[in-house]
Amino acid sequence: MISDDWPGYHLDLFTYPQHYCGDLNRVLIPHGVIVDRTEKLAKDIMNDIGFCDMVVLCVLKGSYKFCADLVENLKNISRNSDTFVSMKVDFIRLKSYQNDQSMGDMQISGGDDLSKLAGKNVLIVEDIVGTGRTMKSLLGKIEKYKPNMIKVVSLLVKRTPRSDGFRPDYTGFEIPDLFVVGYALDYNEYFRDLNHICVISEQGKGKYRV
Ligand code: HPA
Ligand code: MG
Repeated sequence: MISDDWPGYHLDLFTYPQHYCGDLNRVLIPHGVIVDRTEKLAKDIMNDIGFCDMVVLCVLKGSYKFCADLVENLKNISRNSDTFVSMKVDFIRLKSYQNDQSMGDMQISGGDDLSKLAGKNVLIVEDIVGTGRTMKSLLGKIEKYKPNMIKVVSLLVKRTPRSDGFRPDYTGFEIPDLFVVGYALDYNEYFRDLNHICVISEQGKGKYRV
């Protein structure tokens, strides 16, 4: 858990794309820490779910990096055990944010036919749970197809008064109510090319506002 008074790391301690100079306030979670935490999440998931076949459902675009790294770890754990797990990775595209605000209604696009999830063990991989509304609405849609099991893993969970109380089964980090970018989390499609999870500055919000 990252507390509200955690100042984060000064940007100069790490490297980051120089075109974002001035657009960020601080590094909240350095890339290396994300990598280490992901390894442990994969271990927890494998211990709990057991070594059963699963469909990993990556919620695009923000979780593509987390999902790729998590699946790599899940595969490694499976490979180093006696039982190989069959893992299918599927994608679904959701969009609910413009600037730093949730637009309320969630748009689902892309992705395959969700009916393929019937009877499957589904692991939904999300980058960030803010209000929880996006995830609740997605879960509602998926449950209609009667999967055998649904688990949710989110790299980040925001502590926000706007939360509807939804908690993922697995959480990487609980963070303060700040708008964060990096490690594929974006602000109007910018900052996906940043490795660390950082807090965006007012200058950054202004520069890339739509
Ligand atoms: N950053 C990026 N995307 C988001 C956030 C955030 O803090 N909260 C919800 N979607
Ligand atoms: Mg997202």
